[in-house]
Amino acid sequence: MEQNKDLDQFDIPLAKRTSLETPSSIFLKKLLILFTFLLLFFSLVALRMIRNVELKPLSNSNSEAERNDSNRILGHLPYEEISKDKLVLIEPNIEVHVDMRDSLLKMRDEAKKDGIYLVFLSGYRSINLQNEIFYSLKSIRNQDAAERARVSAPPGYSEHSTGFAIDIGDATRRETDFETEFENTDAFRWLTKNATKFHFKLSFNKNNKYINYEPWHWRYEGSIEALKVFEASNREL
Ligand code: DAL
Ligand code: ZN
Repeated sequence: MEQNKDLDQFDIPLAKRTSLETPSSIFLKKLLILFTFLLLFFSLVALRMIRNVELKPLSNSNSEAERNDSNRILGHLPYEEISKDKLVLIEPNIEVHVDMRDSLLKMRDEAKKDGIYLVFLSGYRSINLQNEIFYSLKSIRNQDAAERARVSAPPGYSEHSTGFAIDIGDATRRETDFETEFENTDAFRWLTKNATKFHFKLSFNKNNKYINYEPWHWRYEGSIEALKVFEASNREL
């Protein structure tokens, strides 16, 4: 008897089956669903915010391109006239920015060693001169401003006024001066292959949507000042 009493102490009550659907469990269930929904919602909001941050630089660069476009006149970007003290005369009638003199002369010498004779046709042009070119030729050729701007920049919008632009011809093929036909000369082929070594770049290639292809017109980008001058133009590429 005494032994049974001791055993009773360790008796485990039978498990009672109770329903889970009590009011408090239903509330818990609803809370869990609401929590899952809120978690999903805030995750989506966070994802959208991250994507917006990532897309921001892209939309900035678009607005830079738009700003560049709004600065253009008939497709040309504005350029300030270089101060006279930065210009050097490299031969009669050809002045260029002092930064590019050595590189330009070296390029001509190197070409000569390869049997190619480069001739400089036009370097620095003041805004006044550009004004004459633009308006006189426009009327001589009976072209309106938009037509003329495909081959000549309006005053204040020419790379030539920066002193960093140079028009180049082939001394053995002068009939191709300022002509698209210049692209078929040995001089142009040599420049295409070698000009980059001397920091020269073709300004108006065949893809330019505003200005006609000018195989003779090269610009210098071998100094910080030159790079700053052409920053807006290069940003669009
Ligand atoms: N021919 C180029 C576009 C200029 O006039 O600057
Ligand atoms: Zn030119």
